[in-house]
Parts: sequence; C-alpha cells; structure tokens
Amino acid sequence: MTTDTPSTAPTPLSGPRFQTDPTQLYREMRREHGAVAPVLLDGDVPAWLVLDYRELHQVTADPVLFSRDSDLWNQWDRIPDDWPMLPMIGRKQPSILYTVGQRHRERAAMIGDALESVDPFELRRIAEQFADELINSFCGKGDTEIIGQYAMLLPVRVLARLYGFPDDEGPALVKAMNDMIDGRELALAGQQYLGQSMMSLLAARQASPAEDVASHMLGNEAGFTVEEIAQDLMVMMAAGHQPTADWIGNSLRLMLTDDRFAASLSGGRHSVAEAMNEVLWEDTPTQNVAGRWASRDTHLGGRHIQSGDMLLLGIAAANSDPQVRTDGSALTGGNNAFFSFGHGEHRCPFPAQEIAEVIARTGIEVILDRLPDVDLATPGESLTRRPSPWLRGLSTLPVTFTPVSAL
Ligand code: HEM
Repeated sequence: MTTDTPSTAPTPLSGPRFQTDPTQLYREMRREHGAVAPVLLDGDVPAWLVLDYRELHQVTADPVLFSRDSDLWNQWDRIPDDWPMLPMIGRKQPSILYTVGQRHRERAAMIGDALESVDPFELRRIAEQFADELINSFCGKGDTEIIGQYAMLLPVRVLARLYGFPDDEGPALVKAMNDMIDGRELALAGQQYLGQSMMSLLAARQASPAEDVASHMLGNEAGFTVEEIAQDLMVMMAAGHQPTADWIGNSLRLMLTDDRFAASLSGGRHSVAEAMNEVLWEDTPTQNVAGRWASRDTHLGGRHIQSGDMLLLGIAAANSDPQVRTDGSALTGGNNAFFSFGHGEHRCPFPAQEIAEVIARTGIEVILDRLPDVDLATPGESLTRRPSPWLRGLSTLPVTFTPVSAL
C-alpha cells in the first residue's frame, strides 16, 4: 500500500477508544489522514478505513472496482491460519457475503424473496410472544440485566421461528449463537451446532415444505444447492441476530439516559422510533464493516489504492461526517440516509432491514409496556461497551422496575 499524501503512521484498529469515545477518535483520524485512513489490523496487517460519507458512497456503489471477493486480497500470504479475524474476513467462503456479479444478484434476490414472504403482522405477533416469555422470567423480581437476559435472547428466537425451526429447538440455537459470537472456547462448537441445525432443517423441509423462509429458499429456481442455502441461512442468522440485539440495547440506553427521550417513557410511542433512528446515526451497531478489495490500482480520497488492498467500511465515521451532519446536536428525526445498513448491491437486503426493525421496535415497546417505570440501576456514565471496533453494543444494561406479575 502506498499513499500520495504526507505519510502519517497508520492507526491500529484496536484499543479502548473504539469503545469509549469513537466519535472523537474518528474526528482525529479524519484530521490526521483525510477521508481514507491507513489502519493496522491484528498482527499489523494493513488496510484502509473509509471515513468520509462521499468516499464510502463511492466504494459501496461500485462493486466491480471495490469488490466483495476476498480472494483478491494482496495480504493472504502473510495471514496465519489462527488469525483472529479469519471468521470475519474469510477466504473462499461459499456464502452470499463473498459472491459477486450476476450470481450475487441472483443470490440476493433469492434471499430477499424468501424474507419478503414473512407477514409483518405475524412477525410482530411472534416477536411479542417471545418478548413476553422472556419478560415473564424476570418481571417479578424488580431488577434485571437487559443485554444478557433479554436483548441477546430475542432476535435469534424470532429469526429461528421465521426460518422454520420448531420452537423447542430455540433455546439451544440461542446458546450456540451466543457461544459463537462470544468467540471463546465454545465458539467453534457453537458454529458447528448451528451448521448442523441448518442442514437438518433443510433436510426436513425438502421432505415436507412449509410456509417458512427455509422452504422458500429451497424452492428457488436459480439452482442454488442445499449447501449454499445452509451457508446463507447461517449468514442470515449471524448477521441478523447481534446487530438487532445491539439496536435494542443501544436504543434503550439512549431512552433511559437522554432527557430528550425521558418524557416518552411514560407516554408517547413515536419516540421509540425516533430513538431507534437516532441510534442508527449516532451509536450504530455496525460501527466498522469488513470489507471490499480493490480489483485494480485506483485513487480514493486522495490516496493511491493498490490492486488487492482491503478497504473497511467506516460506517460510524461516515455517519458523523461533518459534511453531512452540519448540526451534530440536532435529533435526526426521520432522516434515514445513514450508512448503518450499508449501501449498494451488498447492503443489508431491504426485507432484512424491515425484519430487524420490527423485532427491535417490538422488543423495546414490550419492555416499556410491561415495565413502565423501568430505570437504570447504575449511573449512565458507568455503562461500558463490548471491546470491539466492529459491532458496537453494551456489555450490560442493569435496570430496576416495580415488580409485576407474569402474563
Ligand atoms: C440492526 C440490524 C442490522 C444491521 C445494522 C445490519 C447491517 C448490515 C450491513 C451494514 C450489511 C452490509 C455489509 C456490507 O456491505 O459488506 C449487511 C448485510 C447483510 N445483512 Fe444485515 N443488518 C441487520 C439485520 C439483519 C437481519 C435481521 C438479517 C436477516 C434477516 C440480515 C441479513 C443480511 C444479509 C444476508 C447481508 C448480506 C448481503 C449481501 O452481501 O448481499 N441483516 N447487514
């Protein structure tokens, strides 16, 4: 990688500031490096972080020049087999994430059509049912920890039901998914369990199709195999669960700590949607996303990008780009030009965005309906984030409330 502008040291994409004050950190990186900053990943592996809104738009809108094909990466010969980022930046992974061109468009259409078959009223009902069940388990106590006892349990249960899993398999899927995300000693076993569960579900649905997402995908006419569909269902589960859980946690934190939303806790409904929109701008679950690979030498934001260089999508930085956020203190209202769901051909499929929105909004509304005086159990300043420059979410969100009976 080479740079045209005066060279400054690359910034390691790690450290506490990605959790404690990312906005200020991105501001400093922009001042020091401009729109596209050189960064170092684990093991001092170089990459570019695209910080500015206009450049991020350019990268995501041109899937030929800035490809999703990780095979193009010019650093593979220095990546060890145990590189910690391999689960996120895989090579020759057969899922939709690394498929490009016409086959990607067909694959995105297959997934989009299957997710579009979900009835939004039924989805709301399912999300309410699981939210109520989870709240029943702690509502008599008067206190709980929202992330571990609620937000991290809800999206995966709802998605499992939509995809076609019987409800009695839900708790084991929740555990496997959260073990996998946790990234520690149970991660691999969790991933294997999920993979096997997808294959069993698909075998059952091949034998007897039902009205669910898995059956819709199996019915595709573009020739996608059962193995390919299993890979995509894994992506749809993993890509769907954690950011939706973080959207719930980050929005509830905002509502419980920011005076502009406090009044609404006891009253108006519309402010749940406002808080959720605000979070996608100011505190997005998808902070940085990997990645794109340059298919030839090019220029971006004053930098010379070499063929095979990796670019990371600086979603949080672009959302707070002063060129588009001229008044950073104003509430964002209904403006949804944020980058939080990506942009272009590889963005989060629109029906997936709608499903995430219904699950997160229902999850928040049911908490506020059932526990109307819910409040933080610790001062807002003491809340901490998980240590990650990628997905941004709270470690814990302890709350108290007047105990109520289970439904
Ligand atoms: C708050 C919730 C969510 C957020 C913030 C989010 C964000 C994103 C982002 C930023 C991307 C683009 C990655 C890139 O450009 O490289 C993406 C892709 C994707 N998301 Fe989501 N997502 C969410 C929920 C979901 C849900 C619920 C599903 C499934 C039901 C889902 C399925 C997918 C899939 C399949 C892709 C890959 C698209 C492709 O490569 O063509 N996401 N998501």
